[in-house]
Amino acid sequence: MLVNFNEMLNSAKKEKYAVPHFNINNLEWTKYILEQMQEENLPVILGVSEGAAKYMGGFYTIRSLVEGLIKDLKITIPVCLHLDHGSSFEKCKEAVDAGFTSVMIDASKYDLETNKKITKEVVEYAHSKGVSVEAEVGHVGGTEDNVYGDVFRATLEDCIELSKTGIDALAPALGSVHGLYKGEPNLDFNRMKEINENLLIPLVLHGGTGIPYNMIKKAISCGISKININTELQVTWHNDVLTFIKEHPNVYDPRKLISSGETSIKEKINELVDVFNPNHISPKKEKNDII
Ligand code: 13P
Repeated sequence: MLVNFNEMLNSAKKEKYAVPHFNINNLEWTKYILEQMQEENLPVILGVSEGAAKYMGGFYTIRSLVEGLIKDLKITIPVCLHLDHGSSFEKCKEAVDAGFTSVMIDASKYDLETNKKITKEVVEYAHSKGVSVEAEVGHVGGTEDNVYGDVFRATLEDCIELSKTGIDALAPALGSVHGLYKGEPNLDFNRMKEINENLLIPLVLHGGTGIPYNMIKKAISCGISKININTELQVTWHNDVLTFIKEHPNVYDPRKLISSGETSIKEKINELVDVFNPNHISPKKEKNDII
């Protein structure tokens, strides 16, 4: 079922685990993620960047694709279809109008007052349609959709101010970056904890790829309830596809080429879900234990 992220994130905040946000790029990835999360029997957020939306044809195509897969694959877990880093009110509105159940408005490149103004506009429109809203303060650095940006850490005061717009979740930039890290990530856990203690809404960690699992666990204990993963699935898929192509240089069927990375994507999801939600026992693992 397509839902907004409120119930899933509020439960995660209460129970101290994190819901995965996986970015999707095409039909196959969406299918693999839905199948694996259904097997885990856990809710999932499908993140769509503006670049990915353009690549796949547009917001309506993606909404129909996701709804079709939910029906055909008999997916029963809660699925949130979320615009990742919406760059303007207009883009967020387009996604809402196409049936996305959640949007992120990322006006973090502006000064706080402008960020608040744009975010508030999005909140008013999205909430009138039952759509949840995430916003960003400070700036998560790194590379996304081939655009590079520097890190600016969020302050507690700015987080409190932005939360007054009525957003449902907040992504405070605290040192994580999109894409691959050069060296160890340097996350400000003290500020993360402080922000969490001062806000009622769930917190989001962007740039989940490459953060060591002990740091992910610490971030969850400091109040992170949603973790965004994009590059990690791309890298793992790419490794397996390269191997497949080397071993089968004459295979040209795109179904075989693309799906040669299916197992590694699913295994990576399985591994991440265990880190994000260590108390969860997936139905399959439970069955294996009993046998
Ligand atoms: P990574 O590509 O570093 O996993 O970041 C994903 C992300 O934060 C999407 O918003």
